Amino acid sequence: MTLLRVDGLGKHYGSTPVFANVRFSVAPGEFVAIVGDSGVGKSTLLNCLAGLDTWDTGSITQGATDLGQLDDTARALWRRAHVGFVFQAFHVLPHLDVAQNVALPLMLLGQSEPERVQHMLTAVGLQGLGARLPQQLSGGQLQRVAIARALVHRPALLLADEPTGNLDPTTATRVMDLLLAQTREHGASLVLVTHSDAAAARADRVLRLTADGIAPH
Ligand SMILES: Nc1ncnc2c1ncn2[C@@H]1O[C@H](COP(=O)(O)OP(=O)(O)OP(=O)(O)O)[C@@H](O)[C@H]1O
Ligand SMILES: [Mg+2]
Repeated sequence: MTLLRVDGLGKHYGSTPVFANVRFSVAPGEFVAIVGDSGVGKSTLLNCLAGLDTWDTGSITQGATDLGQLDDTARALWRRAHVGFVFQAFHVLPHLDVAQNVALPLMLLGQSEPERVQHMLTAVGLQGLGARLPQQLSGGQLQRVAIARALVHRPALLLADEPTGNLDPTTATRVMDLLLAQTREHGASLVLVTHSDAAAARADRVLRLTADGIAPH
């Protein structure tokens, strides 16, 4: 069974190629880590998987949905329903408190589930901090807000770009523990981009992205 299928994906900026011939699939519940040199296009690839960026050749499909065939609105609706994204730089909204940040994906789906938000805050060890503003949190706490937000709407696909990149090793291990436990609990697939061997070692499969494609690491 396949959750996500990437076939012959290629992208370039003007005449500069980023990657080509990227082909892999992700099974339901599978944890795939993607490694590769800086600048090779890992974040770009992840953004494509989320429907946040466009590509030039090939296709990305989820079940019967061909992402490349969706217009911007349909793609945004698809993303809201099926994808959780943990960005490299958190991307929490500074003027919303912690609970409002976590609730955002539910709000975009027209759902209000305050108890679900509290459950996620507790799950990531941030119980009691819901009313704080992001500027009143540490880096590790912000990263956990990002994880809670990415999972609050129970997406089938979680995409994480260097989620432990800015953390000390102990906090990084804790955040990875949390990310994995939450992903497993939800039965979600996880595609994680990382430079960390420790993080990649925990994956079901590690793929290396190069300019020519993607292959088992
Ligand atoms: N808007 C843009 N215009 C032109 N080139 C771009 C643009 N955005 C990214 N690039 C280039 O595309 C390549 C891939 O960038 P990307 O951010 O995906 O790399 P990465 O593998 O995530 O790197 P890192 O490990 O440093 O995060 C880089 O060489 C970058 O310079
Ligand atoms: Mg990157």
